[in-house]
Amino acid sequence: MLGARDEGGRLTACLGFLASHRGSNMQAVIDACRSGRICAAPAIVISNNRDSGALERAKREGIPGHCLNTTSHPDPDRLDTAIADTLQRYRADFVILAGYMKKVGPRTLKAFPNRIVNIHPALLPRYGGQGMYGTRVHEAVLAAGERETGVTIHLVDELYDHGAILAQQKVVVLPDDTPESLSARVLETEHALLVETVAGLVSGKIPLPGP
Ligand code: GRF
Repeated sequence: MLGARDEGGRLTACLGFLASHRGSNMQAVIDACRSGRICAAPAIVISNNRDSGALERAKREGIPGHCLNTTSHPDPDRLDTAIADTLQRYRADFVILAGYMKKVGPRTLKAFPNRIVNIHPALLPRYGGQGMYGTRVHEAVLAAGERETGVTIHLVDELYDHGAILAQQKVVVLPDDTPESLSARVLETEHALLVETVAGLVSGKIPLPGP
């Protein structure tokens, strides 16, 4: 069931985003929707961080943005319900975690079975799991002396960085890389791979398991 109609009246997928900070991956997907590279409508942005770049971008793009967090909903179950309800209210067909630093709750997982994807800046299952995020990932890759790292896009389940892998792309680690230089190079690949993967999901070229 697709949630929106495009200008020609065709049914189009609606995308919901969960993002905590800068939101550059989310922006890459929005830009691709605008340019027609992804046949979908960015429908709703939810952030746990009211000052996030992601919510600012949503405002700039005219996409509804909601801040839902432990301040707005101190009870974890109610917060989870509010997130699931908001995504459903905006008819999200797919939910993209674009730098979302919180665990997705059981109600949201149940409302979007096999329809929530996450992007991780390493080649999972290596350098993933609780506490492995942002610069920490790149620091760990460099400390281990890896010659390559990469990007993973995977389905979200109840564990951190754990669900089925949908796409991966390698990135070379250069001898003089710092966490910052490596992170910047990986981020470019993240943007490209996320756009390609979301385009594939929306078009059905990347098949997903049923609910
Ligand atoms: C990215 O590195 C992503 O892989 C990770 O968090 C970072 C978010 O960057 N999950 P941005 O907010 O999309 O710019």
